[in-house]
Amino acid sequence: MKKILFAAAEAVPFIKTGGLADVVGSLPFAFDPEERDVRVMLPAYTAIPDEYRKNMRDITHFEVGFNGRQRYLGIKELLYKGLRFYFIDNEEYFGGPSPYTDYMYDIEKFAFFSFAALAALPHIDFQPDLIHCHDWHTGLIPPYLATQFRYDPFFANMRTVFTIHNLKFQGLCDRDTLRNISGLPWELFAQGPLCSDSSGNMMRGGLEYANFITTVSESYAREITTPEYGEGLDAVLQQKQDRFYGIVNGIDTEVFNPATDPALKRHYDVSRVKAGKAAAKAALQKELGLDVNPDVMLLGIVSRLTDQKGMDLVMPLLEKLTRSGRCQLVVLGTGEAHYENGFRQMAASRPQRMAVCTLYDEALSHRIYAASDAFLMPSRFEPCGLSQLIALRYGALPIVRATGGLKDTVRSLDKAGKQATGFVFEDYDVGGLNWAFELAEKTFFEDRPLWDALRRNAMREDFSWKRSAEEYGKLYDL
Ligand code: ADP
Ligand code: GLC
Repeated sequence: MKKILFAAAEAVPFIKTGGLADVVGSLPFAFDPEERDVRVMLPAYTAIPDEYRKNMRDITHFEVGFNGRQRYLGIKELLYKGLRFYFIDNEEYFGGPSPYTDYMYDIEKFAFFSFAALAALPHIDFQPDLIHCHDWHTGLIPPYLATQFRYDPFFANMRTVFTIHNLKFQGLCDRDTLRNISGLPWELFAQGPLCSDSSGNMMRGGLEYANFITTVSESYAREITTPEYGEGLDAVLQQKQDRFYGIVNGIDTEVFNPATDPALKRHYDVSRVKAGKAAAKAALQKELGLDVNPDVMLLGIVSRLTDQKGMDLVMPLLEKLTRSGRCQLVVLGTGEAHYENGFRQMAASRPQRMAVCTLYDEALSHRIYAASDAFLMPSRFEPCGLSQLIALRYGALPIVRATGGLKDTVRSLDKAGKQATGFVFEDYDVGGLNWAFELAEKTFFEDRPLWDALRRNAMREDFSWKRSAEEYGKLYDL
């Protein structure tokens, strides 16, 4: 039986700031335990809720030399829903209220995590055939394996897959600083595989040394080999085309299930969608102080409020979206202050038509997916996107831009007709979003049977992990 270790900075239900956590907390469960022994390694953040921390078992602890001194390395273990999770403990690095702190400190913290994840392995009675690394936080695992750990027979045959969840974040810092912190051989740095331009680059380490590279949709895999989306690493990825794959994300269809979701008062599936969504809409309107009106078109946004997510296209349209009173807008998200403030100010001037919650709230997000008729996600770029998948499952039709995973998972009314699941615009400009919104609005108010058909299509799409897990399985077996 093949043994696979996932290494990542986040996983639900322990710690989450975005889609990475959803993926790392759900994909491992999609493999047949008779075929593969999959386990997960995470940092033991003190921010992990007590209900999990108190059940973690201490396996062992020891000291390792790292960045100039001896460091505590504890290993904890938790059996969760039948899967074994390991946690690297070091409160100096993984203390505090959030997994990420100051950017420079995060570099050191995740360099340590990458080193410690390997150093821990001989102590946990698990010798993986392959380590599946996720995003820049684990970018140093493949180079460590290829250098420091290479001569230890325990690690000699270990292979790696490196998955890019977002190429925008690479773990960049001054080259000499990364060399000093990581302790990796100096030849890797002077214009070598751990650099881009004159900076040290942790993500590039993963790309250069992993046996296989993947990213989370086929379109994004193509896009990031071009200078427009490549974030300076397009040429590196082009060179590695023969070992670079796009595999689309799935979602946990048990957690995101309107038929059983504990966050909803009234459950629904595709056969009871009208009544179910009407109840969710009325409840949310009441909860957020909006006009309680079943006839309005409710638009939802659940997102990090950043440029990536296309918020600069939404801002200029706010006035129009909420002017006529036919539409209401609910925004749940945190991020850049100018977006948070802009949304808040607009909502304050029309509290019956627009509500903004600048916080992170899982249960509220579920109530918004359920209550929304349409879901806005006009991203500038989107490696995969899980929010639109969740929206589809809850019968909220996505209004998205044709980029990355959005392009691969939503079928537009103007192209797919009755087979459509949403509304997709091409060019990244306010006019594009406006066009898609107007098409959605017209359909909602003038052709409700068509809208209902699209909603049924959306809810019937299969975004479970099954197919993607098979793709990863093939890679693990190569
Ligand atoms: P990204 O990882 O780029 O932020 P994804 O669409 O892949 O985008 O995943 C975002 C995940 O985070 C989804 O599960 C979404 O519901 C959730 N999410 C984003 N913002 C919030 C928030 N403010 N409160 C609750 N959940 C949120
Ligand atoms: C990143 C991307 C998002 C993707 C998620 C999980 O956060 O921005 O598009 O869905 O990772 O792969």
